Amino acid sequence: MQYKHWCFTLLVLLSGVLYAAGAFAIPASMTLGYDTNLAAAGIQNSHPHNLSSASSSTIHAPAGGEDQVCKFCHTPHGGSAEGPLWNRINPLGPNGDGSFPLYNGGIGGALNLYTIAEAEYNATVAADPTRYPNGATRLCLSCHDGVTAVGEVISGGTLASLTMSAYGTIDLSTSHPVSFIYNAAVEAALPAGFNRPVAGDVVKLDALERVQCTTCHDPHNDTNDGGTYTLPMWRLYTGVEASDYNDTCLTCHSSVPSVGGGGSLHILRQ
Ligand code: HEC
Ligand code: HEC
Ligand code: HEC
Ligand code: HEC
Repeated sequence: MQYKHWCFTLLVLLSGVLYAAGAFAIPASMTLGYDTNLAAAGIQNSHPHNLSSASSSTIHAPAGGEDQVCKFCHTPHGGSAEGPLWNRINPLGPNGDGSFPLYNGGIGGALNLYTIAEAEYNATVAADPTRYPNGATRLCLSCHDGVTAVGEVISGGTLASLTMSAYGTIDLSTSHPVSFIYNAAVEAALPAGFNRPVAGDVVKLDALERVQCTTCHDPHNDTNDGGTYTLPMWRLYTGVEASDYNDTCLTCHSSVPSVGGGGSLHILRQ
């Protein structure tokens, strides 16, 4: 009851903010009780981002502990301006000082992005190491850096004693490059073989035309069923894994790039 009431309040507040910003209606999948693949079987609350005590996901608060789902990431009051009603501190990063490594190339040699000033890829780091990553990626890394306490929030203190698993720890030095501007000038400066998302594409850049974790993933939608569909929290979800994967890459690459170690987007460099 308390959780439902709180969630409702948050939905109303967030919709108010979004309505004011001219955004869209909130889809049902954003409730985190909904699981794209398991809903049909009547199984709820296995969403990996449901960290509440009512969750059956791998990492969650113990029985009798925090039962509010959204609170681990959002708060109606007293949050941070880094994201929408954001309830998390900035990530400490692998070095513990807020800095993160860039993807250091490896498959096709050094990334062209390093040399394209408009992309502000390495430039951001030199200017202010605490501002890379930026945008939604920064929000993700407040748990996925494997260092920042997962159960600790700004408004509410320590909700639960939770640590990120090795599986969930994302090393930016080996992952697909993120937090760079990908505008028309950057596309023009890249060699042939790159495109940009066009209006209406599900795979998208953020409001500042940057590639982020949210270009490929949707943190509210649990798409991985552990069986025939394993793309996790996949933004471009139609239910057919192979085409959802290929079409995501083809939004920007003219052919599907082959990836490094283990065929993983998060172990590109090997
Ligand atoms: C694990 C973290 C996490 C949890 C838990 C979470 N959200 Fe979010 N939410 C995010 C992130 C990250 C964004 C920003 C996404 C972006 O910038 O693209 C966001 C954005 C939103 C937005 C703005 C629209 C959008 O997609 O950008 C709404 C509305 C929202 N969340 C509602 C909720 C509600 C309601 C709950 C609880 C049922 C919830 N969220 C739980 C991470 C979370
Ligand atoms: C409040 C902490 C928190 C935040 C913030 C957060 N995550 Fe997660 N995420 C987790 C946890 C915990 C897991 C489960 C890891 C495990 O099972 O070992 C997870 C799992 C995932 C998975 C794997 C899901 C699967 O089905 O295997 C993806 C993909 C993911 N997160 C993407 C994101 C993205 C993208 C963002 C930002 C937009 C984000 N997360 C923000 C805590 C968080
Ligand atoms: C270009 C698309 C793309 C981007 C950008 C991206 N991911 Fe992923 N992510 C994937 C794919 C594909 C998988 C499925 C497993 C794989 O191939 O690595 C995945 C898997 C994951 C997993 C599950 C663990 C694993 O290694 O399989 C987590 C957690 C995750 N991503 C988080 C993130 C976070 C956090 C960011 C931003 C720093 C991000 N992803 C950016 C495509 C992407
Ligand atoms: C929103 C656009 C976008 C999407 C979507 C996207 N990429 Fe990329 N990708 C880029 C850009 C831009 C670069 C940087 C190219 C450079 O600097 O040379 C890049 C770099 C890469 C690299 C690094 C190559 C190297 O030289 O080390 C690989 C591999 C890659 N992408 C694979 C993928 C795969 C696989 C997918 C689909 C799951 C994907 N990308 C989705 C835009 C995108």
